[in-house]
Amino acid sequence: MSHESCPGYAVAPFAGLVAAYPGEDVYPAGDFRVEWGPIFHRGRLDGSARVLVLGQDPATHESIARRILVGEAGQRVQGLLAKVGIGRSYVLVNTFLYSVFGQGGGQRHAKDPAIAAYRNAWLDALLVGSQVSAVVTLGQLAHTAYDMWAATQPGAAAGLHLAAIRHPTYPESSARASGKKLSETTAILLEDWNRALPALAAHVTPEGPVDTTPYAVQSGWRAGDLAPIPEVDLPAGSPPWWLDLRSWATRTGEDAQAKRATIQVTVPRAYRAWPPLG
Ligand code: URA
Repeated sequence: MSHESCPGYAVAPFAGLVAAYPGEDVYPAGDFRVEWGPIFHRGRLDGSARVLVLGQDPATHESIARRILVGEAGQRVQGLLAKVGIGRSYVLVNTFLYSVFGQGGGQRHAKDPAIAAYRNAWLDALLVGSQVSAVVTLGQLAHTAYDMWAATQPGAAAGLHLAAIRHPTYPESSARASGKKLSETTAILLEDWNRALPALAAHVTPEGPVDTTPYAVQSGWRAGDLAPIPEVDLPAGSPPWWLDLRSWATRTGEDAQAKRATIQVTVPRAYRAWPPLG
């Protein structure tokens, strides 16, 4: 059986970009989990991307897989891209290279010039003179980041469709913060994604079947709304369960210190193909 994998960052300008990533002097350790390292992207860096997704910051699964938006949030986005006929011709980058730690860290650094300068270098590489025709921003911080880039590249930005949508984990974070039911906040997100879907489809050249049937706002997520991450997006040798829709990584620990230092990785039951243990 032959496997596909992400070739990484061997060629310019990405080789230079990953060599020059900003560290703790730019991303303070009080607000970012710098100890888990920067996580740069997911998807095509070879010029074949037709859509760019700008996310927020990496979470637990991303810290292990070393590619962004591979957990639940990423699978929701993968499902959205599938609706507009995009199965692999995309590229995803985040607003922040490191996972945000604590309340308000993202807002506090939304306009930091050094963070923006490095992010803009990636966006220049991916959007200027490329065949990307649409940008999807996930949440307010990503929208702000996109606007900051667009102000530096008005010519390139003028040729792009912007779909500024709610972040895929809005339902969970909003329910936690407001006390609203998860079903209610999920409906708000799905309504928002439904609103953006027709124009996004109109501005993307599909590579596969398009199905812009709206999300069923009152039913919540249905089978098929989430899509698994393709093998070609992950580093060579990644185990297949890293692509699965089931969660396999979680932060654990008795206190905040231990929790920040620990990610528990568990092979899902369906992948425990070893012989019975004696
Ligand atoms: N994981 C990411 O990499 N980015 C997000 O915005 C959310 C989860």
